[in-house]
Amino acid sequence: MQNKEYSFIFAIYDHGGELGDSDSQLLNGARSATRQAYAPYSRFRVGAAAKLTNGEIVRGSNQENAAFPAGLCAEGVVLATAASLYPGVAIETLAISYDDERGPSNKPITPCGICRQSIKEFERKTGQPIRLLLGGLEGQVWLVEKASMLLPLAFEL
Ligand code: THU
Repeated sequence: MQNKEYSFIFAIYDHGGELGDSDSQLLNGARSATRQAYAPYSRFRVGAAAKLTNGEIVRGSNQENAAFPAGLCAEGVVLATAASLYPGVAIETLAISYDDERGPSNKPITPCGICRQSIKEFERKTGQPIRLLLGGLEGQVWLVEKASMLLPLAFEL
């Protein structure tokens, strides 16, 4: 018998102003994408912006449904949009932000479990890790260099 340990390192910035120009623009893209969310049920608007390796930026937001499970997460929307518009093109960085009608947006959120699985599949099919940039409308920003680090022992076929 042996034990294996899993760990990863991520960077913490005090605020978006500490980011370089490209990351800062992408995070602002995710922040403004929250305005396109359709979230009448949760009132929690999520925005995502992906910078592709061809230089294009694709944005998405959560789209809810009265039948709750039919709702779409912002990350899923942006991954499907990127893959549909630019098939085979890898994502370099995915920024995620949110606007919460019930409270402040001053700390990062992380993608839900299903989105982590979708992001992992995207990394696998394009053969390139996706950097994750996570931040609210203000406050700390977290940078994870490889999104799939958030889903250890993920299911794979
Ligand atoms: N949501 C996302 O868009 N991404 C996530 O990673 C987690 C949750 C959405 C789903 C729902 O519309 C709202 O946030 C509240 O859960």
